[in-house]
Amino acid sequence: MAERDLHPQCSGRLYGVGTGPGDPDLLTLKAARLLGQADVIAYFAKAGNASNALRIVQAYRRDDVIEVPLLYPVTTESHRHGDAYRQAITAFYDQMAAELAGHLSAGRDVVALSEGDPLFYGSYMHLHVRLASRFVTEVVPGITAMSGCWSLAGLPIVQGDDVLTVLPGTLDEEELAQRLAATEAAIVMKIGRNLPKVRRALARAGRLDCAVYVERGTMTEGRHLPLNRKTDDDAPYFSLVLVPGWAGRLAATDPSAEADKANAPADLETSTS
Ligand SMILES: C[S@@+](CC[C@H](N)C(=O)[O-])C[C@H]1O[C@@H](n2cnc3c(N)ncnc32)[C@H](O)[C@@H]1O
Repeated sequence: MAERDLHPQCSGRLYGVGTGPGDPDLLTLKAARLLGQADVIAYFAKAGNASNALRIVQAYRRDDVIEVPLLYPVTTESHRHGDAYRQAITAFYDQMAAELAGHLSAGRDVVALSEGDPLFYGSYMHLHVRLASRFVTEVVPGITAMSGCWSLAGLPIVQGDDVLTVLPGTLDEEELAQRLAATEAAIVMKIGRNLPKVRRALARAGRLDCAVYVERGTMTEGRHLPLNRKTDDDAPYFSLVLVPGWAGRLAATDPSAEADKANAPADLETSTS
């Protein structure tokens, strides 16, 4: 079948656009340009909550743009691996894709926002797999949360042959501990209510003392500090833990680096802005 038949000329285009981790200045030029041209902006949000992605792009959108909120019908209170959760979330993505297909078929260009990068743990991917075969689609990468957070903290994360492992904090403690022990560097995402478990896993893997906690990284209200200096178990949705590979190796090879390593955490206890 010809490309023209697959993607009718009169249809709009779908753009999956990464908004970066929070600071609007970390949006790409391409994202800003597409936002200024889009007929429709779609964004995921929890019902009753403001959209963080929409807030990030506020300065770049057209005043007359059509906003399409994609409101999750289920929350983290539901058991993510249960059948009821799977059915509800699949039906939701089907419905949202159908709604956007209506706009695309009517010739409107749609920008679907995604915090960070759209294809890195981003809900946008569920729209992409449902729509990319029917409409001209482009993904605009964004700066990931982890990249924003390690840059903010000024924390060298990997070098040379270091292995970096990205872990969702939703894994069970045993698996977290094993994977943390088997890697040089790690990022633990999705902290929230998982913080006590993540702490225990880091301690079991002998990595607690070098871990850095970052919440709302690059947003104006953001902050970061060594995890072993955080005294409570409260962590918002927008938080992650950085475990650097580089600093530990540096100390092992360069005696003068031991002093730097010891000083580093004190310098990190600072807010984002
Ligand atoms: C569903 S994932 C989305 C990841 C995103 N697509 C990316 O490219 O980074 C959501 C998780 O990313 C992390 N996250 C996103 N933005 C963050 C920020 N500004 N500061 C700290 N963590 C953040 C948190 O761990 C959060 O639970």
